[in-house]
Amino acid sequence: MTQRVAIELTVNGRPVRAEVEPRLLLADFLRDHLELTGTHLGCEHGVCGACTVLLDGDPVRSCLALAVQANGTHVETVESLTQEDGSLHPIQQAFADHHALQCGFCTPGFLMTVRGIFDDLPGMTEAQIREAVSGNLCRCTGYANIVRAVQQLQRDLQLQAVRDPATRSGSRVDDRGALRDTARSEVK
Ligand code: FES
Ligand code: FES
Repeated sequence: MTQRVAIELTVNGRPVRAEVEPRLLLADFLRDHLELTGTHLGCEHGVCGACTVLLDGDPVRSCLALAVQANGTHVETVESLTQEDGSLHPIQQAFADHHALQCGFCTPGFLMTVRGIFDDLPGMTEAQIREAVSGNLCRCTGYANIVRAVQQLQRDLQLQAVRDPATRSGSRVDDRGALRDTARSEVK
């Protein structure tokens, strides 16, 4: 019998303890053990980016990481984007507004890749945005709309930074509430 290893981590803000086989992939741990099936598996060898999650804030391919490697870390999956009131996260809203998904299979990976650059997005060039998402593949080839969505999100964040200078000097942008408040005030 394969020896199991005890791990403790935080997943989407919640503490998780488990005993897992050392060879268990992080993607399989999230999907099969925690039922967080928003993380998709495409190629399963690090090429497509569909399985992207954040590990201590950095995007990683969960099909290439072992669950035991996540011991002691903070993992964020696409489910973490869900707002408490059920509304869309600004990244999700931008993708919806710009028709940046077709079949949607690649979308969780794109959303988490963009989540990983969220704080840096206001100062990024279009070339940097394209490079940041270049590790994610979309079989529906919706790249033009995906880039448009990220650029709209960038404009919204820049507008928010102008209106709220506290977000300009390195303090974290309130991506959950403030951006939606900005959007609401826009339509008055
Ligand atoms: S499923 Fe992980 S990179 Fe494709
Ligand atoms: S929307 Fe279908 S694979 Fe990207």
